[in-house]
Amino acid sequence: MPAQPPPERPGAGAEHDWWQTGVVYEIYPRSFADSNGDGIGDLAGITAHLDHLAGQPDSLGVDAVWLSPFYPSPDHDFGYDVADYLGVNPKYGSLADFERLVEGCHRRGMKVVIDLVLNHSSSEHPWFQASRTSRSDPYADWYIWRDSPGRSVTGRRRSPNNWRSWFGGSAWTWDEVRGQFYYHTFLPQQPDLNWRNPAVREALLNVVETWLDRGVDGFRMDVFNVFFKDAQLRSNPRRVGGRGAWSWQRHLHDRNQPELHDLLSQLRSIVDTRPGRMTVGELFDGMLADAAQLIAPRHLVFDFSLIGVPWSAAAFTRTLAARDAVFGTERWPANVLSNHDQPRHASRFAPPGDGAAGSTEGDARAKVAAVLLLTMRGTPFLYYGEEIALRNLSIPKAQAFDPPARRANFLFRWWNRDQARGPMPWRAGPGAGFSAGRPWLPLPSEAATRNVERQAADPDSVLNTYRRLLALRSATPALQVGSQHLVATSDADVLGYVRRAGDDAALVLLNFARRPASIALPKDGSREPWRAAFSTRDRAPGDMLGDEVALAPLEGLVATRA
Ligand code: GLC
Ligand code: CA
Repeated sequence: MPAQPPPERPGAGAEHDWWQTGVVYEIYPRSFADSNGDGIGDLAGITAHLDHLAGQPDSLGVDAVWLSPFYPSPDHDFGYDVADYLGVNPKYGSLADFERLVEGCHRRGMKVVIDLVLNHSSSEHPWFQASRTSRSDPYADWYIWRDSPGRSVTGRRRSPNNWRSWFGGSAWTWDEVRGQFYYHTFLPQQPDLNWRNPAVREALLNVVETWLDRGVDGFRMDVFNVFFKDAQLRSNPRRVGGRGAWSWQRHLHDRNQPELHDLLSQLRSIVDTRPGRMTVGELFDGMLADAAQLIAPRHLVFDFSLIGVPWSAAAFTRTLAARDAVFGTERWPANVLSNHDQPRHASRFAPPGDGAAGSTEGDARAKVAAVLLLTMRGTPFLYYGEEIALRNLSIPKAQAFDPPARRANFLFRWWNRDQARGPMPWRAGPGAGFSAGRPWLPLPSEAATRNVERQAADPDSVLNTYRRLLALRSATPALQVGSQHLVATSDADVLGYVRRAGDDAALVLLNFARRPASIALPKDGSREPWRAAFSTRDRAPGDMLGDEVALAPLEGLVATRA
């Protein structure tokens, strides 16, 4: 049985739950491992690779997996358009395969977090199919339908308001069958559910209950801060500047409505009936301040502020300071450098010329980024492939699968998310151990040399850097739950901070430059010297640090007083 729920007060000294001390690993099921040779990753493929994640002496050592959607779906947004919230897409397997996967995770001490996409369903969901038939259908009010306010001078039907779709164009699509517009924050194939309708709320909360009954430990709530829209559907005020039509308005009425707070409490009261369960909300197009507002006990929020930061110690220092100020000591951050929507961070942080194959300096930066992600305050979320510093795939727009990438134009700028969704290279050889067939996306071009098997055999690899860091983290309370204080490092290329939990302390120094750096450490009153516990470069473990620390180029160093 899981432990009793912790007190509602994250921070050093309190009891902590797994979703605070642990590390979560995101799997994009389509791209992790294909068990039947159809080129598409599946649940049985994941189950077959769980030893990579936990349970063996040479596993990565993560505490939970988060599975991106595996529900039946016509795949207009690769599973983020759900046609049946309680089923499993036959492409990915069956409910029995899901149960085996959960069992395999639990046996290895890993929790299972699933992705719930409750803002919108697929237009092929039976609820929407019923809803569009008529205004008097029992499901008529399950989506957001409105009449057209009339025609423009050119004869075009006017939309109910000026809201835009995040995936380009108007957020309203005319439906001939029903003779009304329906609203979609994303693609026309992803109509928004009407959370103001009590029957919808009940049905969706039932989905939550059902998956809890099936043994999952948590939920990643897709774009949870857009569930509610303004009750009167008022147009957003216009705004000057920004790239693309989305940014030409202030999104006051199409997200972050006050009704969300009540729903979050209700959701929590359901999740809290089972000890040890959690939720993490994906903040849609939100700022740090929104994240702080929407965090609740046992509810994490992704704020993504780390994702926009360039490779610069000064920029990360500013971002960490801003996050510390907003999260304070009471709120628990979720830390993300990469996910299935963003360019991979090994590519974002890479030096010029790194390219698809990568470079030694690019890998050295990826190691420093790993130290940052796994030692700063909050729960780290890893994205499959980052443990081998996988780079972006390069896919020409004409061959893009990602639907918004295919819609991109001058008014709607978009990046191709396929680049971050490449098949996982497990070993050299045809199919790279991902599939015996033809992978749905091309294998990374460097798969023959950059793969799990090869990096496992190299003590100095990015993979072994992640393994060692995860082991250090799980043995160091300060790194898991400690407070965080930035230290002034006297070198603009070095980011430094101290983590403290009771008597336990850790010092982290990250040299972002390709030159050595020498740091004068501020005195902190302790008589014990800092000793190196981990370094991304050659440094003897236990090496004592003086008042002046010499860092190698691109060295990520963790020191403790143990
Ligand atoms: C979230 C998902 C993204 C998806 C969108 C619509 O942002 O991370 O992949 O396209 O929601 O569901
Ligand atoms: Ca398959």
